[in-house]
Amino acid sequence: SRQVIILDEISKLATKQEQWEPFSWYKEMRENTPVYYDAEQDVWNVFSYDHVKRVLFDHELFSNKKERSLIPVPRQMDSRSNVNLVDPPEHRKRRALLAQAFTPRSLKDWEPRIQEIVDELITDMERAPVVDIVQKLAIPLPVTVIADLLGVPSRDRNRIKAWSDILFLPYNLEAYDDIEEQKGLAMKEFAEYLYPIVLEKRKHPADDIISDLTKAELEGEQLTDEEVVMSAIGLLGAGNETTTTLISNMFYCMLFDQPGVYQELRADLTLVPKLVEEVLRFRFGATIDRKVARDTDVFGPEMKAGQVVVAWIGAANRDESHFARADAFDIHRPGNQQHLTFGAGPHFCLGAPLARLEANMALASFVKRFADIRKVDGLNLNDHLTASATGQSLKSLPVGLSL
Ligand code: HEM
Repeated sequence: SRQVIILDEISKLATKQEQWEPFSWYKEMRENTPVYYDAEQDVWNVFSYDHVKRVLFDHELFSNKKERSLIPVPRQMDSRSNVNLVDPPEHRKRRALLAQAFTPRSLKDWEPRIQEIVDELITDMERAPVVDIVQKLAIPLPVTVIADLLGVPSRDRNRIKAWSDILFLPYNLEAYDDIEEQKGLAMKEFAEYLYPIVLEKRKHPADDIISDLTKAELEGEQLTDEEVVMSAIGLLGAGNETTTTLISNMFYCMLFDQPGVYQELRADLTLVPKLVEEVLRFRFGATIDRKVARDTDVFGPEMKAGQVVVAWIGAANRDESHFARADAFDIHRPGNQQHLTFGAGPHFCLGAPLARLEANMALASFVKRFADIRKVDGLNLNDHLTASATGQSLKSLPVGLSL
């Protein structure tokens, strides 16, 4: 049997457009079948804020030691340093190791370099009246920043981006074998690319995350070169597509969900972080899966040990019982940072501060530079969407600019 769970087969959202705007389906599920069993794939699904939060927090009932998954981690990555496939207490040691490498130089130290990358990208945009914000900003910013942080040459960012996209690509039934093959190849090439970099940094450590990983210890033992390579792939992958989605969606929300909000930001830059948080709440089709660790009826129906539960984070973020007028995009909403887009509990996103920093710096600099943004006439959204781990995401978005 296949170890992959196919999300589109659960939701039955058929078209790109429906997958991009799944919110009425989310509502239907929250109201009618908040705990939904998909018999075909033997998967439970939860949609309400409280249930999703419980799945994420309660690692004793809902385990990360999963045999089946939405996006299975390639076997090579199931190493001693992988934070994804373990529960506390083991998880704490591995996470501490990554955190060690990730936080010693506080993010503050990286701000000037991130600002430099942002400024370069934004200056490039001044030359044309219409730019593709995804290709010109949302894609290059996160991959350049994470390559820099890890100590990998940022001139290789196109390759890094391509490999990590493939590794996080969701499966579908039609192209199953093809996707499997692509992932295997990407993994092999990515590892072969990183291996000599890791060897070099072990010999001559520099001020970067890969160097720190070569020195970090897990239970008194250093990581092997292979383990450092796998950790680096994890970090290079984890922060790429998600942060790109956040930055792309900020622009989509400003153009389509609340036209006019751009002028509000122009008048008051302190609103920038509020917009970023509301975009994370409002438009992020994230799903997280766990294994049911033992028989339980915490959500009502009897769930069996070994079954899978999918937490629909995007649906939880629109739950009216937690967020008043949840379907309204409102940057002034109190408590919008209670969204679950970065997860919750022991596996809470390690890169959340970095993702927030990048999005905020990019938007603040952009708002200072451009007097206004506008939609492009005759835009056909379908042409700009592509399948991704979050359902559909923007592969391009033309935006009109006024200096
Ligand atoms: C974990 C989302 C950016 C590194 C997670 C989880 C979510 C998430 C939902 C929890 C997974 C789970 O519970 O199984 C996001 C979003 C991002 C983002 C929405 C951008 C908007 C980043 C960045 C990095 C990063 C920039 C750093 C390179 C990680 C790591 C974990 C993680 C290492 C695993 C933590 C653990 O299992 O203990 N992220 N992430 N993320 N994220 Fe992010």
